Order: sequence, then structure tokens, then C-alpha cells
Amino acid sequence: MKHMTLNNTIEIPIVGSGTNTFGKEGNQYTGALRGDTQEIDWAIANGYRHFDSAQLYNNEEVLGKGLKKSSIPREDFFITTKLNTREGFGGTDWAHAEIKKSLEKLQTDYVDQFLIHFPWDNHDEIVEAWNVLEDYYNRGVFKSIGVSNFEKEHLELILEHGHFKPAVNQIPSYIGKWNEDLIAINKSQDIATVAWSPLRGIDENAKQVLEEIGNQYGKTYAQVILRYQIERDVIVIPKSHNKERQAQNLDIFDFNLTSNNRERIANL
Ligand SMILES: NC(=O)c1ccc[n+]([C@@H]2O[C@H](COP(=O)([O-])OP(=O)(O)OC[C@H]3O[C@@H](n4cnc5c(N)ncnc54)[C@H](OP(=O)(O)O)[C@@H]3O)[C@@H](O)[C@H]2O)c1
Repeated sequence: MKHMTLNNTIEIPIVGSGTNTFGKEGNQYTGALRGDTQEIDWAIANGYRHFDSAQLYNNEEVLGKGLKKSSIPREDFFITTKLNTREGFGGTDWAHAEIKKSLEKLQTDYVDQFLIHFPWDNHDEIVEAWNVLEDYYNRGVFKSIGVSNFEKEHLELILEHGHFKPAVNQIPSYIGKWNEDLIAINKSQDIATVAWSPLRGIDENAKQVLEEIGNQYGKTYAQVILRYQIERDVIVIPKSHNKERQAQNLDIFDFNLTSNNRERIANL
């Protein structure tokens, strides 16, 4: 596994596993929890040590249970979770209470990365929320802090008013929505980009091109697209409910795309 050093010197595995439907009935985002931890168990057995979670997913306890069950030392894992700001910010006391619940569900006394999940309209409140994250960072409860779905204006707000820079900005980046401009802005501020839904947008035409490229290396279309992302220093968090496909998504460190192939992918 390749790691990336974040702007506060901590290391993050460049491939992690998404989790937003894990442990849920019918593998559906809105499904009730089944009570087992199958996908997490497979992912850990496959070698995943980086997991992307969020309060919004309503399944942090599935990850917590799976990590505990594995008996692998906590410090071997890199765990991300996110403050649920889909409906905005409920105030400082609300944030403290939500963070406490996350730590309980994840069965841990710290997380490796804690993000603000979405920006909202009230800029003063965004800074207030960031200050809450900074407090936990200062106390070592969060080993790194960052944001998700932040645009340039939101990043500028934090850069101007925060004490610490975000370590990452987790944003959509996939075929049809590469978000190159925002990735460049992140990079210019030494903020790492994490691509969510990295396997989205692969239509039949794209699949054919990616398979053609993959045949040159003995790799699948999914492996080619994930390789493309990490070759441009983007961290990926693909998710699969299938043990073999999970393994596939980790097996992307033994080939290099040619510049010609990279260009073909960029133009998809
Ligand atoms: N910050 C945010 O706002 C935000 C938003 C969306 C997502 N996320 C995070 O990003 C993670 C990943 O995004 P995602 O779950 O939306 O989608 P994704 O990882 O881009 O794609 C998942 C889909 O790809 C399939 N797949 C996985 N590996 C494959 C392979 N090797 N070959 C062929 N198909 C494969 C899966 O099917 P199978 O299960 O059948 O393999 C599933 O249908 C989420 O789980 C979540 O943690 C964050």
C-alpha cells in the first residue's frame, strides 16, 4: 500500500474502502442495519486498513464492530468519519454530542480523520464548526481534520479564519466530473484530495476504453480508473459488497499508465 503524507505529517493509505451501504439490508443506502459486519470483515481480510465513514450513513457502529472483532491493533487502521451537516449546523453543543456518539459507535477514543461533511450557507457557522474540529485536533482526539464537498469560497473561509488548514477536501471526482479545477486549488494549498464515488460515470463507451487499456496490463476497467486517480495523487475510497472486487480495488500498485493512456482516460 502506498501512503500519502498529509500537511500535518500524518500518513494516509492512498486507497481506502467506502462504507456507506455496508451492513445494510439489500446493500441499500437507506436499508436498516442487518446486524452483521460481513463487508468490513472481508475488507480487513483483503488488507484494507483505511475506512471512510460518516454520521450521515447511519452505520458507524458496523465499522466499529468489525474493527473490534478483527483484533487488529487500533493504530493499524486509518478511520475517517464526518460531522453530519447536511441540514446545516446545530451549534457547538450539538457538534460535541454528535462527535461523542461517533466515537462510541466506532468504539474508539480517537479518529484518524474527521471532516465537515458539507458546507452550508452561514459562513460564520462554518468557521464555528471548524473551531470545534480544531479543539479535538489540539487534544489529539482527531489526528487530522478536513472538509468534504467544499468549493473554493468555503476553503478560503477556513484558510482565512482557521488556525489549521484542512488536511483533505473529500470531493466527487469521476468520469464526467473530474473536478480538475478544485483539485488544483486543493493542491495549491497543500490540501490532499480524496475522491468519493471514484467508480461512478463508467458508461459502455468508457468501459470499453478502460478495458482496452486494462488488457495491456492484465487489469480490469475498475483497476485502471483507480490507478489513474492515484497516479494524479488523489486518494480513492472505492466501495464494493463483493470480496473479490474489494481485493481487485487494492491490487493497483504493480503497473503504471503510459501518458497516452492517461490522456485517453482524462478525455473520457
Ligand atoms: N463525502 C461525500 O459526500 C461522499 C459522497 C458519496 C460517497 N462517499 C464515500 O465514497 C465511497 C465510495 O463511493 P460510492 O460507494 O458511491 O461508489 P463507488 O465506490 O464509486 O462505486 C461503487 C459501485 O461500484 C461497484 N464496484 C466496486 N468495485 C468494483 C470493481 N472492481 N469492478 C466493478 N464494479 C465495482 C460496486 O458494486 P459491487 O458492490 O457489486 O461490487 C458499486 O455498485 C462511499 O462508500 C462513501 O464512503 C462520500
